[in-house]
Formats: sequence, C-alpha cells, structure tokens
Amino acid sequence: MLAAFREAGVIVLRDFVSRAACEQLRRRALELVDAFEPRDVRSEFSTTAEEQLADSYFIESGDKIRFFLEADAFDERGELRQSKEHSLNKMGHAMHDLDPAFDAFSRTPELATVAQRIGIEDPVILQSMYIFKPPRIGGEVVCHQDSTYIYTEPESCVGFWFALEDATLDNGCMQFIPGGHKLPLKKRNYRQPDGRLVTETLDDTPWPVEQLVPVEAEAGTLVVFDGRAPHLSAANRSARSRHAYTLHVIDRACRYPADNWLQRSSQLPLRGFGEAA
Ligand code: FE2
Repeated sequence: MLAAFREAGVIVLRDFVSRAACEQLRRRALELVDAFEPRDVRSEFSTTAEEQLADSYFIESGDKIRFFLEADAFDERGELRQSKEHSLNKMGHAMHDLDPAFDAFSRTPELATVAQRIGIEDPVILQSMYIFKPPRIGGEVVCHQDSTYIYTEPESCVGFWFALEDATLDNGCMQFIPGGHKLPLKKRNYRQPDGRLVTETLDDTPWPVEQLVPVEAEAGTLVVFDGRAPHLSAANRSARSRHAYTLHVIDRACRYPADNWLQRSSQLPLRGFGEAA
C-alpha cells in the first residue's frame, strides 16, 4: 500500500465501508440539510469565483457546520431551482468534531490502519466536507492540489474521499493524474493581513491534463490521495446526485501557518482517527 501510494500519489480501496454505513451518513447529512434555511445565506461556492474568497461565512466555517450552495442554485427571481438537497454544493468543515454520526464514520480502527500504512506519523483530522454534487447543476471543480488550501511545513495534507453514492463519468467522478503528486505545488491560498484570501501562483506550468484518469467509484469506495495529487471533477449534468464525504488529515508535528484559511477555535482541539473527544 505504501509503495503504491508513493508511486501514484493516490490509492483506491473498493468496498472500504459498507453500503449501510454510507446510507446512514447520507441520512444524517439530509437531517442537517433539513434544518438549514438557504435564504439566510445565499453563499455560493465556486472555485472560479473571486467574490467568495472574501466571504466571511466561508472563512469562519473551519470549526462549524455550514452549507454552501451551488452557483446555479437560484433562478433569476431568487428562488431555488431545485429542492434544497439538490441545490447544495457542500457542507463543511467540522462535522467530524461536532456531529456524533460524522464523528463515528470518521474515526474507525480501519482508517487508523490506512493512515499508519501510508506512513502518516501522527494523523489529525483537520476538516470534513460533505459534497452533494447535485443532479443537473453540480459544478465543475477545476484541476488543483489540496495542499494549495491545506498547507503545512513540511507538507503533510492527505485527502480521504469516500463515495457515498456511485460516482461515474456521467455524474462527475474524481479524475487524477497518476504520479502528478511529484510535480511542484503550483498555488498557495492564504489570508492577507486584511483578512481577504488570495491564491498565489508559485509555478504556472500547465497540468498534463492528457494524463488524467477517471476514478469511477461505487458507494463504499475510499480514495486516499496525497495533498499534492492533481485532481478535478467535471460538472454533473446527469439526473443522479453524486454524494461524497471527505476528510483532510495533516501530521500534528508539522507547522500549521496562521495565514491558512482554515483556523479553528482552541476549544476544539484536533483529534486523530482513534482519539475520543
Ligand atoms: Fe480537492
């Protein structure tokens, strides 16, 4: 496992969690969605829009459970085009610490074993995201490296991506460039002194996108990838949603810069895969 992870920067573990566990997490997510009122927020999340970078609703969400709508969620009259569930881009970023069902899904002996086998010395879960990728309006995510947003010194970010529903080319599955994690970190996103977020380009070489490989994944699949592994997902124009859950792990021993966007209250200490609250 360690050799494959070092070589490709990404490993795919099929049937890692049961379909029942995926369904249970999906049901819990939808309960949280039920309690959310979209009109209170109207915060839209898009990796291409600059405005959202200044959005304090996003910036302050590192230790909360917040909801982010798709860019195309509202019609011209300001009404949701689809149901609430089918209007959301994601929920984040601390369900794993704030919600018992998410905590239980995120902290298992099996996950602790994977983290250990791929050589993470002292893993702690920094953030969780529930990705809705709704039918018809699920947005494209352009090619990026997660270490751009979750930067430590030395770099230690590792993504754990769980398919909660079947992800196919049709509904916008993940795509990776195998071995692409050996390329340099191309961008870094950070807070400026005025609080605004900027993304600085460190290396403007284009991605070798011809090397992208789609990773179709049935519900229950876990994809583990290096923070430098370049990946993207296409828009979902199909009639099926593509729910996924992600955890981002860092090594506790690494320096966590004060200008990373995600900052957590000291009331919510970071915990690993086996650490109880
Ligand atoms: Fe990503």
